[in-house]
Amino acid sequence: MAFPEWDESMALGLPVVDAQHRELIDWIKVLNDAVQKGEGARIIDDVLQKLIGYVQHHFSDEEHLMLSHNFSGFSSHRQEHDFFVTRLMNMHTNIENGEELSAKTLDFLIEWLIHHIKGTDQDYGRFIRMPRGVPNSI
Ligand SMILES: [Fe+2]
Repeated sequence: MAFPEWDESMALGLPVVDAQHRELIDWIKVLNDAVQKGEGARIIDDVLQKLIGYVQHHFSDEEHLMLSHNFSGFSSHRQEHDFFVTRLMNMHTNIENGEELSAKTLDFLIEWLIHHIKGTDQDYGRFIRMPRGVPNSI
């Protein structure tokens, strides 16, 4: 598949999170390029581990943000994050066991991330941007 570029349809309107999402897509692009170039398992695993580190840092920031705003969808959102991290960890284990990172697996990573940013991330972004004053009462 063609590698997707970050565009405004992915924006949450939260500058720190948007910058992290751009960087996340860049990291997957680095991984994708390494696989396309036919780099060895050690280099690919090295990039994958850097991606995992960045994903964990980013998810942790998002989760803190949701908790600090009492976002009601926190638990299910965290489950999505945990699922993705587990998949990445499994890829790392598979590479260590001599398996190649397939184009299908890379497509999964890209599609999952774009779907997540355009879907559930938008839900908490909207929630956090929503003004929450004291309702008018008569
Ligand atoms: Fe998220």
